[in-house]
Amino acid sequence: MPAPDLETIVSLAKRRGFVFPSAEIYGGFANAYDYGPLGIELKRNIREAWWRSMVRERDDVVGLDAALITNPQVWVGSGHVANFTDPLVDCKKCQRRFRADHLEEGAYGEIIRDANGNIVCPNDGGELTEPRQFNMMFRTQVGPVADESAIAYLPPETAQGIFVNFDNVAQSMRKKLPFGIAQTRVSFRNEITPGRFIFRTLEFEQMEMEYFCRPPKDRNNPAEYLELHRHWINERLNWYINVVGIAPERLRLRDHDKDELSHYSAGTTDIEYLFPWGWGELEGIAARTDFDLSSHGALSGKPLSYFDEETNEHVVPWVIEPAAGLSRTLAVTLLEAYTEEPDEKGENRVVLKFRPNIAPIKVAVLPLSKNEVLRPTARRVYDLVRPLWMAQYDETQSIGRRYRRQDEIGTPLCVTVDFQTVGEKGEAGDDAVTIRERDSQAQVRVPISGLVAALRERLGSS
Ligand code: GAP
Repeated sequence: MPAPDLETIVSLAKRRGFVFPSAEIYGGFANAYDYGPLGIELKRNIREAWWRSMVRERDDVVGLDAALITNPQVWVGSGHVANFTDPLVDCKKCQRRFRADHLEEGAYGEIIRDANGNIVCPNDGGELTEPRQFNMMFRTQVGPVADESAIAYLPPETAQGIFVNFDNVAQSMRKKLPFGIAQTRVSFRNEITPGRFIFRTLEFEQMEMEYFCRPPKDRNNPAEYLELHRHWINERLNWYINVVGIAPERLRLRDHDKDELSHYSAGTTDIEYLFPWGWGELEGIAARTDFDLSSHGALSGKPLSYFDEETNEHVVPWVIEPAAGLSRTLAVTLLEAYTEEPDEKGENRVVLKFRPNIAPIKVAVLPLSKNEVLRPTARRVYDLVRPLWMAQYDETQSIGRRYRRQDEIGTPLCVTVDFQTVGEKGEAGDDAVTIRERDSQAQVRVPISGLVAALRERLGSS
């Protein structure tokens, strides 16, 4: 099925409690969104899937959770104060401001040009100024005095907390090269291009890992290092396909041109997804060399190096950084999962076909109808299931409508308790329930005593 349009996803995300426009009662706020009850479950599951493959299933990667607001020198050492800029242009007529590179990509709608072929203001056709560099970091102030010395920054990436803790982690965890440090956390950027839902927001979660390795013998010919870069590009691409369940034909790799490389990178490859508006970045895998460790070592006066017992010398490790966007991956899981197809009666149903590990609700327990006789057993089944999986109990409206609602939020399995379960007219019940599968809509009857095993078989280790 072709990917749905963005409006369909934005509307479903709001209607079903995934993502809401932020502060909607005040008219919203550009590039800010709130995550609802199902959105946070979906986010937690994606984060958990990432942590599982990057940390839990490996013995060479450990985790970290560094402070968000920290010594501002970190952002001087990292180069962000000087270099984390984007080119902005102003309209000379309406004074609106645009990102020059986003204008060229058509992010503000149709590209309009004047008679000389120059791009003009998408709002009123006015002439645009020459691009000026604009730092994307948010500034804040720490402490009781609001002067220059109190300036601190909200982090625009999670990576720097990892670099400045390199020595602490290596020493305390007795790590030997190569090893990685992983972190998932919120980052902030003063994004001025509106639209495109949670693709580009002021605050967003990132899932980043810095993989430290021995420096190459020849800086100008780092063959092994480039091989390691390639290795992580493949690992990460396979994660999106095999763990998140993204169709390979909607993923591609794109190497950055020299002129678009970040200030720290010797080479970056993006994993891109085919969004409804075209290809867009999902993750960047950067070859950061020893840029960050060397730079922090020089500025702080505390060298961030590693004692290599093989060669008996201190070396500054080189780094490969797979940097993924959690919020962006969440948008992609919604786009990928969205399906419209006929239900049992041939009527159109909307189904979010999440993989079980990603689905926010794994099991819904549904008594056939709202009924005093069914309720105690249905609640017993719910109590059995919910310590093990994220579950919902629902007894309102017809069973058909409740199946539709669960389909629309992507619940892989519904468990129905009916009169055969509890018995009718003095007859004993069979103490069995029906499991209904979301995708096939197939129904199978299992005894309550075997329900947990039957669910586990279908849900795997999710
Ligand atoms: N530490 C490297 C780094 O931050 P990046 O390519 O700027 O690299 C990594 O960001 C990922 O973070 C991107 O691929 C994207 O998924 C996500 N990301 C970046 N800016 C974002 C924004 N404003 N809103 C949502 N996600 C964003």
